[in-house]
Amino acid sequence: MARWWKVSLAMQLIVLLQFGNCSIDSCPTSCSCLPLKTRGLIVNCSSRHLRDLPDLPLITVQLYLQNNLIRSVPPGALDHLVSLQEVDVSGNPWNCDCQILYFKSWFDSVADQRNLANTRCATPNTVSMKPFQTLTGNDMPPCGRTWPTKCRKFFIRDLYMIGLAVLVLILMSYVVRMSRKLACRVAVTTSSRHMKAANESYKSK
Ligand SMILES: *[C@@H]1O[C@H](CO)[C@@H](O)[C@H](O)[C@H]1NC(C)=O
Repeated sequence: MARWWKVSLAMQLIVLLQFGNCSIDSCPTSCSCLPLKTRGLIVNCSSRHLRDLPDLPLITVQLYLQNNLIRSVPPGALDHLVSLQEVDVSGNPWNCDCQILYFKSWFDSVADQRNLANTRCATPNTVSMKPFQTLTGNDMPPCGRTWPTKCRKFFIRDLYMIGLAVLVLILMSYVVRMSRKLACRVAVTTSSRHMKAANESYKSK
């Protein structure tokens, strides 16, 4: 039994490694890749009319993305490039709203940034043509209002639920109070009726 488990675990590991290898280490179809003498890849995706970031290999050391149509990068999309040393993202129409902050801080952390003079924001108007290097959080509208729509939907639904719960609570407390008042009144009227009856029976005697 134990041996069977070990074999199955090993098989799973092998499959996982194979799968991981082909999805993480292969060259994106829209780019050309050149292996370095030391382990690593030069990934050249320049001038390919790319609108989105391709799936980049884990072992990318030099990354050329210049002269494309990329406007933004989803947060976290570049975190796996732990071996990266050199990058060129110039000549793209970067949309520098608050969501660019992830990409900007990632870009700042790369050791060698090429062609900085041509790495600029294109939109929004307030920062058009501003070099990436001089961009700060103050140049952008505050991030607070641009929640992901999914998040906002959940938030609105939660608000509805809370509102409904509060309404039900208010209604219930009202009903309880009313029924208590009613019970009181009934008790008083019945007791007063009893008193009257007693009085009358006393008088008649
Ligand atoms: C990247 O590829 C382009 C052609 O698509 C070529 O002109 C350029 O020299 C290449 N850059 C590097 C650094 O290999």
